[in-house]
Amino acid sequence: MDAVIETVIRNASLADGQRGVDVAIEHGRITAVGPALALKGAQEIDAGGDLLSAPFVDAHFHMDATLSYGLPRVNASGTLLEGIALWGELKPELTQQALVGRALQYCDWAAARGLLAIRTHVDICDDRLLAVEALLEVKRLVAPYLDMQLVAFPQDGVLRSPTALANLKRAIGMGVDVVGGIPHFERTMADGAESVRILCEFAAEQGLMVDMHCDESDDPMSRHIETLAYHSNRLGLHGRVAGSHLTSMHSMDNYYVSKLLPLIREAGVAAIANPLINITLQGRHDSYPKRRGMTRVPEMLAAGIEVAFGHDCVMDPWYSLGSGDMLEVAHMGLHVAQMTGQDAMRACYQAVTAAPARILGLRDYGVAVGCHADLVLLDAADPVEAIRLRAARRMVMRRGKVIAEAPRAQARLSLPGRPATVDFRLGR
Ligand code: FE2
Repeated sequence: MDAVIETVIRNASLADGQRGVDVAIEHGRITAVGPALALKGAQEIDAGGDLLSAPFVDAHFHMDATLSYGLPRVNASGTLLEGIALWGELKPELTQQALVGRALQYCDWAAARGLLAIRTHVDICDDRLLAVEALLEVKRLVAPYLDMQLVAFPQDGVLRSPTALANLKRAIGMGVDVVGGIPHFERTMADGAESVRILCEFAAEQGLMVDMHCDESDDPMSRHIETLAYHSNRLGLHGRVAGSHLTSMHSMDNYYVSKLLPLIREAGVAAIANPLINITLQGRHDSYPKRRGMTRVPEMLAAGIEVAFGHDCVMDPWYSLGSGDMLEVAHMGLHVAQMTGQDAMRACYQAVTAAPARILGLRDYGVAVGCHADLVLLDAADPVEAIRLRAARRMVMRRGKVIAEAPRAQARLSLPGRPATVDFRLGR
């Protein structure tokens, strides 16, 4: 007689191409994965051949600014620098209650999208550290359904802002996880390099990870990633450091990049591109042709560098769109980087799932025996179709419990002689 366990998901496709797979779940973990498991689930879920994936992971976000669109005014020019100025206007008006409320609303959207782990930068330049307190509270509140990792982010520059370094250290003391930075925003290249040294040494002393906004600029001479890789190597921070944005690499000289990529690889520094924001904010000083600005994703992948795509912004001073959909992020990344080969498209899916999971250091992540039963069932057959359709999340599961459900995308048709419905999927 078949054993009865909590939950069995039947007939799923996996991101690695396996089809007709059953997944057994008990006590919040995956206990078996294979074809036609001889187990009975108290709860049986029919995947119907659809893609069952580990959850989406966002390696780069700003939860303290999200859903503040229009406060206190909209970004008229839509530029990065007006966004930073606008955030400066909003900061004194922030209240903890409003910050927590907006962040919780975003986490609701994230859960519904199957986005169950987010690394969020939190601005530590406000001496009150209001946003730090608020996001630590949000992290505690959402822990049952979403993993949040906080980065102490000196938005106004750790050297440029007189209290930023002390605030950053206070924030780490309060429980913020990761050391942030913004070297290209310091007043000089020398100050930028010095900020990288100070922050990497602090992270090494404290045994912390590092994730810096780095070279978010179209200036090909913005080379702080070189300094970040150098200090990561020097301090033995391999596998614990990420450079976010790295947009200046788009504009760098090819010879210099051919020397830079092996250094990044040897230093074990990961790269986090933010396709929606990079294509929107970069190239603003160009006439035509306009640079895309996103960092060199396929070249970094070919060099063996870990690359993730982040969402960065949703409805905040820098970006008025977005809804927590990492498939939209992957879709944009695929287009901007022209990653249209089959392997390249699958790599774009990895860039919003397994790659950021490794960068965040998430434990027991994946669809394999022993992993957490954190799963997303998509209205798509495979990762490429999921990106193409920005597929509906039929079911989102956290630790074996269903936390969100959505219907398949389907439209009714009233066309003589044509089918009654369409679902936009090929071969069904
Ligand atoms: Fe950012």
